[in-house]
Amino acid sequence: MADKILVAYATRYGSTAEVAEAIGDELRKAGDDVDVLPVSDVQNLSPYRAAIIGSPIYMGKWLPEAQVFIEQNQQDLRSIPVAYFTVGLTVADGGPEILRKAEASMDQVRMLVNPIDIGIFPGKLESSRLSFTDRTIIKLIRAKTGDLRNWEAVRAWAETVRSRLVPA
Ligand SMILES: Cc1cc2nc3c(=O)[nH]c(=O)nc-3n(C[C@H](O)[C@H](O)[C@H](O)COP(=O)(O)O)c2cc1C
Repeated sequence: MADKILVAYATRYGSTAEVAEAIGDELRKAGDDVDVLPVSDVQNLSPYRAAIIGSPIYMGKWLPEAQVFIEQNQQDLRSIPVAYFTVGLTVADGGPEILRKAEASMDQVRMLVNPIDIGIFPGKLESSRLSFTDRTIIKLIRAKTGDLRNWEAVRAWAETVRSRLVPA
């Protein structure tokens, strides 16, 4: 029987995985049976009655593996409630234009499977851990670095989204 909730994520440096774990913990606290998995580890959606799927933003876009996951599983995902979350560094500033751009990172996946809710959260960037290419891009665009994640906001969203994913 489909009785679990899936929290699936893509990540390059791990910060989105930690956001996914925090969402999963919040759902477990509320009594749900939850799997938190990288999208590449999800083989079969039949055990799940709902799914929360997230990706960091890189150059304005979701990571390709998260988009491909939704594309390949769109039929199954359309038959259960789905929510998306996005993690990006720019969103910490929170202006409407920045939020609009962060939201646009989900345009493609929203066309494939319409979510019942979306979450947009500040992420984390440690330049010492970046690949040469990523470090060069970050220097060029003079992005700020640091851990800007707001765990309270993540947990509050998980609580709200749960009430919409899981009928009382
Ligand atoms: C090369 C590069 C490009 C990025 N592009 C964006 C972007 O367009 N918008 C944004 O909000 N954050 C951007 N970020 C910040 C990441 O989304 C943020 O660091 C996120 O927490 C990384 O997630 P991960 O640790 O799960 O890979 C970028 C980071 C790097 C290294």
